Amino acid sequence: MSKQTSGLAIETAGLVKTFGETRAVDGVDLAVPAGTVYGVLGPNGAGKTTTVKMLATLLRPDGGEAHVFGHDVVREADEVRGRVSLTGQYASVDEDLTGTENLVLLARLLGHGKAAARTRAAQLLEAFGLTEAAGKQVKHYSGGMRRRIDIAASILNTPDLLFLDEPTTGLDPRSRNQVWDIVRAVVAQGTTVLLTTQYLDEADQLASRIAVIDHGKVIAEGTKGELKASVGAGSVHLRLRDPDQRVQAADLLRRALDAQVQAEPDPVALTARLSAAAGQDTAAEQAARALNELAAAGITVDNFSLGQPSLDEVFLALTGHDTHTPDSTASGAASGSHDAKDEVAA
Ligand SMILES: Nc1ncnc2c1ncn2[C@@H]1O[C@H](COP(=O)(O)OP(=O)(O)OP(=O)(O)O)[C@@H](O)[C@H]1O
Ligand SMILES: [Mg+2]
Repeated sequence: MSKQTSGLAIETAGLVKTFGETRAVDGVDLAVPAGTVYGVLGPNGAGKTTTVKMLATLLRPDGGEAHVFGHDVVREADEVRGRVSLTGQYASVDEDLTGTENLVLLARLLGHGKAAARTRAAQLLEAFGLTEAAGKQVKHYSGGMRRRIDIAASILNTPDLLFLDEPTTGLDPRSRNQVWDIVRAVVAQGTTVLLTTQYLDEADQLASRIAVIDHGKVIAEGTKGELKASVGAGSVHLRLRDPDQRVQAADLLRRALDAQVQAEPDPVALTARLSAAAGQDTAAEQAARALNELAAAGITVDNFSLGQPSLDEVFLALTGHDTHTPDSTASGAASGSHDAKDEVAA
């Protein structure tokens, strides 16, 4: 069970945490390989933060076991604390201090001498693009700057395992990209990262393995490729010359490919979700057959692309609701449809 023998940074078995009636974490098994980014993907209230807090020894599990680098998070909490760092969803720097003051203070608390603390603070501010803002109070930082200083604070000492709890929620695309670069740099230094996110593209970009959680349970786990493959072979996106031929084209695709076909908002566009079970044909072979049949029927295709399923499609297929519907039972009345796109009339 030690790091050396298992190669696992985190290993949990049947982890449980309840708050009154709520089973926030309901029997979670995880195996996180050391030296990788592991994504924990789930909607609001799925149990992501509660899981992270138990692994970071901030909450005591009500059941099951968790080991971090082979150390039990309850019985060997001190050893675990010595090796992990947490950037929380609601983070910890002091709003009234400047960027530099925050990092120097925290570095001093971690035992760095005065000069070393200043050097490390300046180094991180530079690396995170915060040199110009270093002398400003954190309360005047933008959301993106704020998130970067939070992460900087959590890696003053390079941790073996870094928990990043929704590090980019609410950030604009540019700031998200900056945080992603930081995560890649941290992993390149040898740190294992457990990243929670509600964003499928974020897990797709950063993580090598992903656990999808919903209502406190892991509902799927694997590499990105495995998760995508479990949903289907991919999607064919088509744009037709003539919008009047769309219904006919959809019918034909449905028959030829045994695919789910959807009309896009663009009146000439169609998406066919290929099923993984369509014989031995690869997605490309299925797509080629479809194009031939469309041509034979006199339907002109202007534009065509073949893509892997998105993680959004994975989540929808696994949970029956999209990532923005935290509880299908609670909101079932409001959202009649499982999908935002309209099924093409047969
Ligand atoms: N301290 C607490 N007391 C009572 N209930 C709690 C507490 N912490 C979490 N919960 C409940 O446990 C469930 C899981 O919460 P958690 O914060 O782990 O979800 P999450 O996946 O982090 O969600 P989000 O994406 O919104 O951060 C939710 O139903 C939440 O209301
Ligand atoms: Mg959370």
